[in-house]
Amino acid sequence: MKRLKNSAHIAALVLATLAPAGVAMAQETIATLRAGTPLAENAAPHAIAPVRNTDLRQVRNYPEQPPLIPHKTDGYQIDLNANQCLLCHSRTAIEISQAPMVSITHFMNRDNQFLASVTPRRYFCTQCHVPQAEARPLLENGFVDIDQVLEYVSGQEGN
Ligand code: HEC
Ligand code: HEC
Repeated sequence: MKRLKNSAHIAALVLATLAPAGVAMAQETIATLRAGTPLAENAAPHAIAPVRNTDLRQVRNYPEQPPLIPHKTDGYQIDLNANQCLLCHSRTAIEISQAPMVSITHFMNRDNQFLASVTPRRYFCTQCHVPQAEARPLLENGFVDIDQVLEYVSGQEGN
């Protein structure tokens, strides 16, 4: 305990002698969700990022991934009365819409039986399919595709 106190003391001394200005600044700019906006004021909110609307189907990161939606979905109704996604993606709609048909898994019930129409458990499309925002990622992401892992492993084996 005594030793701890001493080292804290030393650290404080070092800070105080080396960078008194830095310490003072750090105190003034503590990171908060308000990002420096005075308490009595409201900052202008960031604009909502637009949705990626390229119409280009995107890479799936693993075979079972629900593909990302490459188009806008604003105002597409999905409720008890209507499912506007199926206006383009159902089996009978694709000749006109030229959209990819919902795959066969969307017709399977929990017992793996194929139904004649889309199974209730795949009715609410946006439970699994989402569009992407044109936005900077909030956190860095070190995701590596399995193909890169396999390439790395086979490279190692070669050595
Ligand atoms: C007006 C027709 C239309 C509607 C409505 C529509 N889509 Fe699409 N969708 C398409 C077309 C066409 C494509 C092929 C890529 C493109 O051209 O955008 C597509 C692509 C997709 C894909 C990518 C498939 C893949 O293999 O990469 C998904 C997922 C998807 N749509 C989901 C939805 C969902 C969920 C809704 C409802 C919220 C919806 N779509 C509504 C026409 C439509
Ligand atoms: C429970 C999650 C889930 C729901 C709900 C769901 N999907 Fe999917 N969807 C998936 C998965 C997983 C895949 C990829 C593997 C597969 O085909 O099953 C997929 C694949 C697709 C594809 C690509 C098919 C292909 O052969 O390339 C389209 C298009 C699609 N879904 C549209 C829809 C639409 C439209 C709805 C709503 C009627 C919907 N999905 C509801 C999970 C879901």
